[in-house]
Amino acid sequence: MAVIGIESSAHTFGVGISDNGKILANSKMMYKITDKGMIPSKVADFHTKNSGRVIRSALESAGLSMRDIDAISYTKGPGIGACLRIGQIAARSLSVAYNLPILPVNHALAHLEITRHISGAKDPIGLYVSGGNSQILGIIDEPYKHYHVYGETFDIGVGNMLDVFARAAKLKPAWGSTVAKTALGGRYIHMPYTVKGMDFTFTGLLTNAIRLLDTESVKDIAFSMQDTAFAMLAEATERVLLLTKRRDLILCGGVAQSDRLRYILNEMCGVHRIHFHAAPNEYNADNGAMIALVGEKMFLSGERGGLAGASTEQHYRVDGVRISW
Ligand code: FE2
Repeated sequence: MAVIGIESSAHTFGVGISDNGKILANSKMMYKITDKGMIPSKVADFHTKNSGRVIRSALESAGLSMRDIDAISYTKGPGIGACLRIGQIAARSLSVAYNLPILPVNHALAHLEITRHISGAKDPIGLYVSGGNSQILGIIDEPYKHYHVYGETFDIGVGNMLDVFARAAKLKPAWGSTVAKTALGGRYIHMPYTVKGMDFTFTGLLTNAIRLLDTESVKDIAFSMQDTAFAMLAEATERVLLLTKRRDLILCGGVAQSDRLRYILNEMCGVHRIHFHAAPNEYNADNGAMIALVGEKMFLSGERGGLAGASTEQHYRVDGVRISW
C-alpha cells in the first residue's frame, strides 16, 4: 500500500510517500529564515503557495499518481498553529477529493519512528532534539503502548537556545549549523550546567552566553555554550539508558544533524557498549517521509482516522499518543 504524508509544522513544507515501509519520495521546500526569525503568517503564506508544487514533486519522484495512494497522513502537532493548518487543509482536501482515509500524526513520534525504522533497533531510548523540543523517551506498554518521556527540558529546546544565541551574536542563519562552525577551535569558558536527574534547562546557559558577548570572543562562547548543552543532554541520556538497561540509543530531530552532538553521544554509548544510531540528515530535518511512514503504520494496524478527527494541536504531546503497531 502507499501512503502520502504531509509535514508543515514549522518552516518546511514536506511531502513523503511510504510504500510498505519503503520511502518512495521525500520532497520539501523550506521557508528562508531571515534575521527576524519565523513570522508564522509569512511561513503559512509560503506553505500555501508551494503546497501543490511539493505534492506533485513527491508523486513524480515516486512514479505514482493520486489514484495509486491508499491513505493520507499529515502533522497534527506540535508546531506553529498557522503552519500546521496549511498541511491539515491540504490533507483534508486530498482526502475529500480522492475519498481516502486521513490520519493525524504526532510530529515528535514521527521523528522517533523513522529513526527507529531506519536503525532497526527494536527497543531503543530516543533523544529527540529540535528547536521546540528536547526529550529523552522510550516505548513502554503501561497503561497502553506509548513513548514515555523519561527526561525533558523544563524551559526551551536546545535548538531554540542555539538560534537565540546566534541572533544575539549576529550570526547568519541557519543558526544551529552557524554556531557549530563558529565554535570550531574555540576555548572552553566556564558555563552554568543544569541537569536535575533526567531533566535539564537551557535558559540560564543562554543568558550567560549572551552576557559574555561583551567581553569574550564569539568563537569561545559558541564552543563553550554548545559543548555544555550537549554534555547536559549526554549526562541525562546516559542516566536514562542505565536506568532502563536498554542497549540502543537513537538520536533524532533537527539538532541531530550536529556532528559534535553525535560525536559526544557516540563516545558516551561506547563506554557502556550501547549501540548509537542516527538517521541520514534528510530525515533529521523536518520531512514528509516520516509522516507518511507513521501514517502507514497507523493504517496497517487498523486505524482509519477520519475527517472529524483531522484537527491540529499546537502543543500535541507525544506521551499521550497510543502506539497501535
Ligand atoms: Fe521536527
